[in-house]
Amino acid sequence: IFSDAEKTAIVSLWAKASADVKALGAEALERLFLSYPQTKTYFNLSSGSQDLQVHGGKVLGAIGEATKHLDNLDTALSKLSDLHAYNLSVDPGNFGLLSHTIQVTLAAHFPDEFDATAQAAWDKFLAAISTVLTSKHR
Ligand code: HEM
Repeated sequence: IFSDAEKTAIVSLWAKASADVKALGAEALERLFLSYPQTKTYFNLSSGSQDLQVHGGKVLGAIGEATKHLDNLDTALSKLSDLHAYNLSVDPGNFGLLSHTIQVTLAAHFPDEFDATAQAAWDKFLAAISTVLTSKHR
């Protein structure tokens, strides 16, 4: 459950980030693979590749879509939850790592907006997304 202040912090930062989803998403993935090389095993993406941009855009695009459903993340992300649990079997521990590199990417690009309040809201938001995407694992 997000407070009005948290919702504002999430939506207003997204208004900036949404202009550049491919580049920001690719950077978050690049940071994920460099800092946590074990995460590369799920993907077939090489550094700087077109695929990395496309996939980065998909991941951040899904996050952008989720900003429109803050009261309803379970339903909004249900299909992605099935995909990550049943089809991809992504180890749940990896979601915290990606949430972290997304935050680092946002901080690097939007230093004025990504203050402590915004970070706390985004950390909660990404944790909530991760909870939904890992809820079907067993
Ligand atoms: C695919 C979102 C976390 C591995 C996808 C797709 C989206 C997405 C939108 C594309 C689905 C489609 O094409 O229909 C997200 C979001 C995440 C997240 C929002 C959390 C914030 C992760 C993590 C991993 C992962 C932590 C593994 C380390 C994959 C893989 C694919 C995929 C392997 C398929 C790639 C391919 O098509 O080759 N994800 N994801 N995801 N995701 Fe995630």
